[in-house]
Amino acid sequence: MTAITTSESRTAAELQGAVPIGSGAVLDGPILKRAWAGPSSDTFDVPPIAGFVRKYLMKSKISIDPFARNKRWATHTNDLNPDTAAESHMDAEAFLRELATQGVKADLVIFDPPYSPRQIAECYANVGKTVTMEDTQNCVLYSRVRSAIPAVLADGGIVLSFGWNSNGMGKKHGMKIIEILMVAHGAAHNDTICVAERIESTK
Ligand SMILES: C[S@@+](CC[C@H](N)C(=O)[O-])C[C@H]1O[C@@H](n2cnc3c(N)ncnc32)[C@H](O)[C@@H]1O
Repeated sequence: MTAITTSESRTAAELQGAVPIGSGAVLDGPILKRAWAGPSSDTFDVPPIAGFVRKYLMKSKISIDPFARNKRWATHTNDLNPDTAAESHMDAEAFLRELATQGVKADLVIFDPPYSPRQIAECYANVGKTVTMEDTQNCVLYSRVRSAIPAVLADGGIVLSFGWNSNGMGKKHGMKIIEILMVAHGAAHNDTICVAERIESTK
């Protein structure tokens, strides 16, 4: 339970807006919101998620979406699948490293990868790519793509992550969570968890 700290370890200022849960423990807040909407494999077609993404895009000057599928909302868009409307069709990590060599610095990066090993295998099958055991491990995909994000992120930049957990980029990349939107989809569907983080320090 590392997201929960005891009130004794926090200053009064830090506690402003914090939500008490149980005896003496607090969860950072008020950053957590919840909505309901039907599911879609095109994540940003889900109205509350579209609203979440557009809110940050409206404030952004240069944005990057390395898993864009058919959404050309960001300045730089990419998707492995050449049958999608994205501008580039590279592996997401290679795409980000290429932008870094071009000196691109974005104030917003969108991270909406396949959410499970099964979804990764389907994406690779769609492009006729042979998948290895390592390719289908979502933790491997996430960590190698996330590791390429800081080099293209401007000071104060924001990363939006979507998936079935709220891990996001995390403190190891110098990021602090500024907002979480949980979208419930009914029946036995997993929620889509939308996380907005801002970079606090450049490593
Ligand atoms: C969840 S979908 C993105 C949906 C999109 N944000 C939308 O709202 O329509 C994930 C996308 O990542 C692409 N993808 C999967 N593996 C990839 C990789 N290694 N590099 C780049 N794109 C990849 C898939 O083809 C798929 O279109």
